[in-house]
Amino acid sequence: MDYESTALQLKPRPDFVATPWVRELADRALGYLTAGYPVHFSGPAGTGKTTLAMHLAALVNRPVVLLHGDDEFGSSDLVGDHLGFRSTKVVDNFIHSVVKTEQSVSKTWVDHRLTTACRHGFTLIYDEFNRSRPEANNILLTILEERLLELPPIAGGRDGSGPLRVHPEFRAIFTSNPEEYAGVHKTQDALLDRMITISMGGHDEATETEITAAKSGLSRDEAARIVELARAVRALKPLRHPPTIRSCLMIAKVAALRKVPIDPNDALFLAICRDVLRIDALPVDDPEATFAELIRRVFAPTPAVAPPRVPTTGFAANRVVPIPRRPLAASASPPPGANGHAHLR
Ligand SMILES: Nc1ncnc2c1ncn2[C@@H]1O[C@H](COP(=O)(O)OP(=O)(O)O)[C@@H](O)[C@H]1O
Ligand SMILES: [Mg+2]
Repeated sequence: MDYESTALQLKPRPDFVATPWVRELADRALGYLTAGYPVHFSGPAGTGKTTLAMHLAALVNRPVVLLHGDDEFGSSDLVGDHLGFRSTKVVDNFIHSVVKTEQSVSKTWVDHRLTTACRHGFTLIYDEFNRSRPEANNILLTILEERLLELPPIAGGRDGSGPLRVHPEFRAIFTSNPEEYAGVHKTQDALLDRMITISMGGHDEATETEITAAKSGLSRDEAARIVELARAVRALKPLRHPPTIRSCLMIAKVAALRKVPIDPNDALFLAICRDVLRIDALPVDDPEATFAELIRRVFAPTPAVAPPRVPTTGFAANRVVPIPRRPLAASASPPPGANGHAHLR
């Protein structure tokens, strides 16, 4: 395995949405990385952590090594292991297998992705790193602090044994999900202490609208209605599975593909919203009545002078950029199916 097979050359994606909110965040994070500090985006699913990590790595403009947290990881999976055996009589060369041979076997050091990144000064993206067990991630402590990678000793003491000095251009970007998520481990404080953590509270409304429009092909006005509806549902706490930007994208992409109008009188549009937003699981007495009320609100004619928007929750609260929009053609009459399930076409 050579490093060409593990490193990627990322380019900024053309469909990356850079609203002022995103740009400010990316710029701050890039400043930390440039100063040599690892950056960590923490937050719930769908808050844009992975996308931002990839975008930043593309801006750093070095080859990128991508790791995904995994409960099965051990440190040797991250840094490499005795993968190959040069011998006239190789019995087995699978990782983690017991190798028995009567001949003397010279072990060949084969880099794994973390070692590759440290050795060549690449950018590491360790996505959802807290899905790996904390002891597997201990190897990162000396990498981030002393900039030394302690490689496991190899019998025979050749290639790869002993500490490796981390290349000065090595950079690390981490993402993590909340600890209450299934399959997520608590991160050791010492590791968190070595990185700059940015809590991702979710995109602001303008950014969600831009992303939904850009990735579905719907107009900004149409995207804005879908986002407003999803955010209204999200506000109905406590929800086990609050709708995310992914929910907005699902509604928008299906509607665009099936040419379903973003219209409160369209039964299929309402049915898609019900399914994706899991209206039947809303924590209210009458989910259908609540849904009808939210639809009415979202599709109400826009007043001539828009009232000031109430800042949303999350750390982007003071940076909400109002989205100018014109009323859609649809009327604001109560949606059919409001008292029962709409019929699918
Ligand atoms: N700045 C952005 N530009 C374009 N699409 C984005 C942006 N941020 C997030 N998305 C889209 O939103 C969805 C969720 O983003 P993602 O980065 O996967 O979230 P997370 O990693 O926090 O779960 C993805 O479909 C992603 O493509
Ligand atoms: Mg992600």
